[in-house]
Amino acid sequence: PKILAGKHLLITAGPTFEPIDPVRGITNLSSGKMGYAIALAAWEAGAQVTLVSGPTALEAPHGVRRIHVQTAQQMHDAVLKSLAQHKQDIFVAVAAVADWRVANASEHKLKKTQHDDTPQLVFAQNPDILATVAAMTGAPYCVGFAAESENLLEYGAAKRIKKNIPLLVGNIGHHTFGKDDNELVLFDEHGHTALPRADKQTLAIQLLGEIARRLPH
Ligand code: C5P
Repeated sequence: PKILAGKHLLITAGPTFEPIDPVRGITNLSSGKMGYAIALAAWEAGAQVTLVSGPTALEAPHGVRRIHVQTAQQMHDAVLKSLAQHKQDIFVAVAAVADWRVANASEHKLKKTQHDDTPQLVFAQNPDILATVAAMTGAPYCVGFAAESENLLEYGAAKRIKKNIPLLVGNIGHHTFGKDDNELVLFDEHGHTALPRADKQTLAIQLLGEIARRLPH
């Protein structure tokens, strides 16, 4: 039998895009590849998969229901709506969500003036989607990702506890964005284990194996 047969898995992937004005915005270099690889692998493992995706150039993985969003707030709302529509067994937060949005985004395109003045952006904090879901009663099994550029072992363990999640996945090094391969460290309540460098699809399958055997039954 497939390891996730009958399970519902909700996943976020890709970057978010936070508008400055109707034609400009702030985003990041997340390609969505790791999240999309996990979404596909989960479907192949028998799960019903809902993928909430920020802007990426990737095709929807076969069999996966994809919901497109742009901003962190929209991603948050789509995740909560999916959770309200159907009970989810697993939530995997892979998206590189912007920590801040532009609070004074302009309704019209910003114009250059004759003076040298530049636009002054004011930021507001975005909701933490993963922490919100993890704090819900009857929360799905929550898996977070961390892209740290240093001290991964220390920060990874701390982040898992701070977000109050059973499993946190650290990307080794900060050179994963856009690449086809990756190297992961899994943090749970017992400590950490490494998944050595491999292509993202292989790692996705291995990660789902690790998730499946940790699921409460
Ligand atoms: O705190 P940090 O942003 O490093 O945490 C990363 C993890 O939290 C990732 O799993 C990411 O998808 C999730 N996250 C989120 N909502 C945010 C920020 C991060 O779901 N606003």
